[in-house]
Amino acid sequence: MASTPPLQLALLLLVVALPAAMSASCAGEHFPSGRTYVTCEDLPSLGAALHWTYDASVPSLSLAFVAAPAAPGGWVAWGINPSGGGMVGAQALLVLAGDAATSAASAVRTYNITGYAPLGKASTPIAFQATGLAADVGVGGKVRLYATLRLDTGMKKVVNHVWQVGSSVTRGAPDIHAMDAENLAARGKLVLSDGAAASPPALAGGPSSSGEGSGDGSPPLSRTISRAADTARVSAPALVLLALLGFLTTTMVLVA
Ligand SMILES: *[C@@H]1O[C@H](CO)[C@@H](O)[C@H](O)[C@H]1NC(C)=O
Repeated sequence: MASTPPLQLALLLLVVALPAAMSASCAGEHFPSGRTYVTCEDLPSLGAALHWTYDASVPSLSLAFVAAPAAPGGWVAWGINPSGGGMVGAQALLVLAGDAATSAASAVRTYNITGYAPLGKASTPIAFQATGLAADVGVGGKVRLYATLRLDTGMKKVVNHVWQVGSSVTRGAPDIHAMDAENLAARGKLVLSDGAAASPPALAGGPSSSGEGSGDGSPPLSRTISRAADTARVSAPALVLLALLGFLTTTMVLVA
């Protein structure tokens, strides 16, 4: 009977720590019921994540962008840039953290980012019809911005996207974000694929095309890599716990 407590402790640790380890990735995000997305990706900077479902038949992109504002009274934003890789030209969705917290229906704004000037208080028209705009606040104060964008039929399967977080708002208008390395690195390529095509392609080093120049046929590298990273992140704590479990079991045997 003396052997029971260590085992219970080990199991308790396993039960408590595993979900925590998993929630470090986008796969652990829990949205309100009715909001589900086929794919998610942990974005490489600012601790942000994008969840989305792409429907090529429309085509439309239903998404949830998740990021913590740089400070509690700040803002978060995400956008597609059809004309380049940077901020200028982005067709952006933005929400103030304060609005997200109160679930204000009209909280999410659209901005056609035409330059580096501060954004105004009011939305400006963007190239994509945006519906279902909404926002809320999730675990840890992360703001979650929801939208469905109607994309252009001729659009490439790999689009440039950018994201950003700011720390403050002045008279209803988002203040300029910091220019730290993480802020400047907040851009990437988003690979649009249908739900059915969600199975990632084999990452095994195919000697074939290494370039992005293959156009629509280029493999969704970002997603595959991010999946691999998630797996590594989850399995490392799991291994530690299994080792701990093994250690405790050994100790238990020795004590008994
Ligand atoms: C966004 O701004 C650019 C530059 O002023 C303009 O050419 C473009 O038509 C605008 N897009 C929309 C959807 O208004």
